[in-house]
Amino acid sequence: SDIWAVVPAAGSGSRMAQSQSKQYLPLYGRSLLDWSVAALLDYAGLRGCVVALPEGDLGREHSAVLSDPRVQLCAGGASRADSVAAGLGALPARDEDWVLVHDAARPCLGQAQLEALIETVTASGVGGLLATPVTDTLKRGSAEGRVTDTLDRDSIWSAQTPQMFQVGDLRTALHQAAHRNLKVTDEASAMEAAGFPVQLVRGAGSNLKVTYAPDMQLAAFWLKTLYP
Ligand code: C5P
Repeated sequence: SDIWAVVPAAGSGSRMAQSQSKQYLPLYGRSLLDWSVAALLDYAGLRGCVVALPEGDLGREHSAVLSDPRVQLCAGGASRADSVAAGLGALPARDEDWVLVHDAARPCLGQAQLEALIETVTASGVGGLLATPVTDTLKRGSAEGRVTDTLDRDSIWSAQTPQMFQVGDLRTALHQAAHRNLKVTDEASAMEAAGFPVQLVRGAGSNLKVTYAPDMQLAAFWLKTLYP
């Protein structure tokens, strides 16, 4: 079976407080989105990659990375899950193929982590995601900011992307989640809700998600380290 990728890049990045959409912000010589897509294209076994963009951006002039013959563009949706579903719809993949879903906002994905995920998942046949054990102590708070309890962090992981699942299973899971109105902020949560097993694969803290403006400097630091 083949390995494909979908990159949801149709968000507005409202938490960045920037006029330009987050995915196009320049970072160490390329846009955030280009770094995220290039990390996937660097994997020679990748068959193809669909990038879901805001509909109005499809007619723009695109970068060299987005013009790669393995890259195809599609219009995203109102939520991240809608954008992923749109990407899966545009993918010329079979149900038994695998798909890596990777956030446009994670430009510092290293090849070692990507290969660890692919090797673990293809060896076991169980889908999975990159994740890191949490290091902070986690509190649950009330609306007023009062601590209600402390979670046992021993079993808690931070979910990253890529997340890798069989195409047919993920299509089923996202469809069910939409139908049941579940709040899914990643593919794994849709897979879990649909009853599929999901494997945690230890990733690295460098694979951060750029959410707030200062994250850009941290991402630039990691890119310089990865690509000196
Ligand atoms: O907003 P957040 O940082 O959680 O977005 C995660 C990823 O999902 C980003 O790459 C963003 O571009 C994408 N997204 C999308 N379509 C939306 C909302 C977010 O593709 N409607």
